[in-house]
Amino acid sequence: MQNAKFKMKTNKNLAEKILELKKKRNAIILAHNYQIGEVQDVADYLGDSLGLSRQAAKTDAEVIVFCGVHFMAETAAILCPDKIVLMPDISAGCPMADMIDKERLKALKRKHPKATVVSYVNTPAEVKAESDICCTSANAVKLIKSLKSQEIIFTPDKYLAHYITTKTDKRIIPWDGFCPTHIRILPEDIKKQKKKYPKALVLVHPECTPEVIRLSDRALSTEGMCKYAKESNTSQIIVGTEIGLLHRLRKENPGKKFYPASELAICPSMKLTTLEKVLWSLEDMKEQVIVPEEIRIKAKKAIDRMLEIS
Ligand code: 13P
Ligand code: SF4
Repeated sequence: MQNAKFKMKTNKNLAEKILELKKKRNAIILAHNYQIGEVQDVADYLGDSLGLSRQAAKTDAEVIVFCGVHFMAETAAILCPDKIVLMPDISAGCPMADMIDKERLKALKRKHPKATVVSYVNTPAEVKAESDICCTSANAVKLIKSLKSQEIIFTPDKYLAHYITTKTDKRIIPWDGFCPTHIRILPEDIKKQKKKYPKALVLVHPECTPEVIRLSDRALSTEGMCKYAKESNTSQIIVGTEIGLLHRLRKENPGKKFYPASELAICPSMKLTTLEKVLWSLEDMKEQVIVPEEIRIKAKKAIDRMLEIS
């Protein structure tokens, strides 16, 4: 109890210092829905990959402190070359994004010269630069339906690619990537939670395996889950995604109950950012995310196309 009180006081002090310094630096804090609770609580904007890209594109702030993983901060740097984009812990990468590289994508493109290349935002800037258009889990289906081409190379998530094939008639050529966090959610976990909470609805992220998606009521992006939880009459929800989202869901819906599909669905990279590191990044103005101009311009085209359509 003593320790919990001490932690709360320390966090309050840290949060106050962050707020003060944020004003001085003309900075904005963007945080992904999987960040730890206290980081979510100091954010100016909390959201999914799509929402975060949109916020980055429209902010007037001079500095963006990006609390998320590297590809997300990189997207902000691609969209805002005149701003300083900082990551409190620059080693926070996305293992799925690291499953693809430019050279191997180029080789696949040579094999399928007529295909349109759609890359999930969970990719390095160099891969976006080799893609025709980007997507997020919130807009992937809509965006792919809107494309003229019938043949699509989809990178890097094979499970999101599979989900898209269940919603469109396009020929999808998937990359063999996956999210190591979402594959920890097993069909047995969903069955167990459904048995324990028979009245609850099951929402899962489309990065989950097809077996898990089949057992769910809906597959949604993290922002989609927040919107659904707020707007639906359902008072109990089993949440099939990274457990960081539960903090926001519970805070925004105090009268409703949320149960994790699996306690093991933790993204270690998302947990690297702490309040202390947010403060230090504003104090030292570090670490800055920089994308070489030649890559940035090409990658921006693919992101801009996505933002126009969605
Ligand atoms: P969202 O865009 O749904 O927030 O997902 C991002 C992500 O990395 C999921 O693992
Ligand atoms: Fe990447 Fe998966 Fe972590 Fe999302 S949850 S950032 S896809 S590793």
